[in-house]
Amino acid sequence: MNSIFTLPAMPDVETGDFARATAMLHRRAGILLGQHKRDMAERTLAMRAKTLRMDKVGTYLAYLEQNPDAPEWQEFINAFTVNHTAFFRERHHFDVLGRFAKKRSRPLSVWSAACSTGEEAYSIAMTLRDTLPNPDHQVSILATDIDTVAVAAARAGMYTLERIAPVSEQQRKNYFLRGTGSRAGMVRVKPVLRSMIEFDVLNLLAPSWPFEQRFDAIFCRNTLIYFDKPTQTRLLGRLARVMKPGGLLFVGHSENLTYLTDAFRLKGQTVYEVTH
Ligand SMILES: C[S@@+](CC[C@H](N)C(=O)[O-])C[C@H]1O[C@@H](n2cnc3c(N)ncnc32)[C@H](O)[C@@H]1O
Repeated sequence: MNSIFTLPAMPDVETGDFARATAMLHRRAGILLGQHKRDMAERTLAMRAKTLRMDKVGTYLAYLEQNPDAPEWQEFINAFTVNHTAFFRERHHFDVLGRFAKKRSRPLSVWSAACSTGEEAYSIAMTLRDTLPNPDHQVSILATDIDTVAVAAARAGMYTLERIAPVSEQQRKNYFLRGTGSRAGMVRVKPVLRSMIEFDVLNLLAPSWPFEQRFDAIFCRNTLIYFDKPTQTRLLGRLARVMKPGGLLFVGHSENLTYLTDAFRLKGQTVYEVTH
């Protein structure tokens, strides 16, 4: 029997679409997509084109190129970010941060520069609350990411119990509320932690950054790896310029700055000190 329903066709993908899309993503967000992501990228682009009722991925890409301010640009970028993160990821960084924060004068400010869904920023906040005698006084944390969906999740501060497995029992008691009823199995960050952090959407490649602040410590972890070397070097120069003298930069376990810049010197395992 023939069905009276026909599924709408997926938009056509042509040979040059992947290369065109990766060049656009790279120009706008710095992110490089390897060939191994081709199938996934083509499917994603086709879905976006379909959502906009376009019959070709080429039409979708042309629309973005011709409309640099279209809200769809944000959807395009969100679709290609990799948001993998965890509470207390690379735990030694938080031990270093705690010891460092005790020695620094106030005000103390820390930037989580690609915060994804917030786990990194909340881990920084817990570390500072647990190590500083008066953490509500002159301590600020800025947490930003290019991905609007990730930043919204970070702001909401809701996680599954599984996600907070790396958080100590004491910290769970102090900083998380357990959900009940339909929220069973979930936790929410308590206001005492949440209020220490300002979350914002920010593209690290934007021509200027909308703050005057200087930072004692910057976490820019597991993000440089998505950029090419010239972009990494430029970004490191800019990060150095927004650091206070003696400030620390924390990067991911596979990120090595040694041949990229002299703005930072290696201090410890994936921890760098600004040289100015
Ligand atoms: C793998 S996550 C790292 C999260 C966290 N820093 C960590 O190490 O657990 C990489 C993050 O970089 C963000 N990102 C990629 N390009 C960016 C850009 N140009 N500006 C700001 N954030 C960017 C992505 O949205 C993603 O959330």
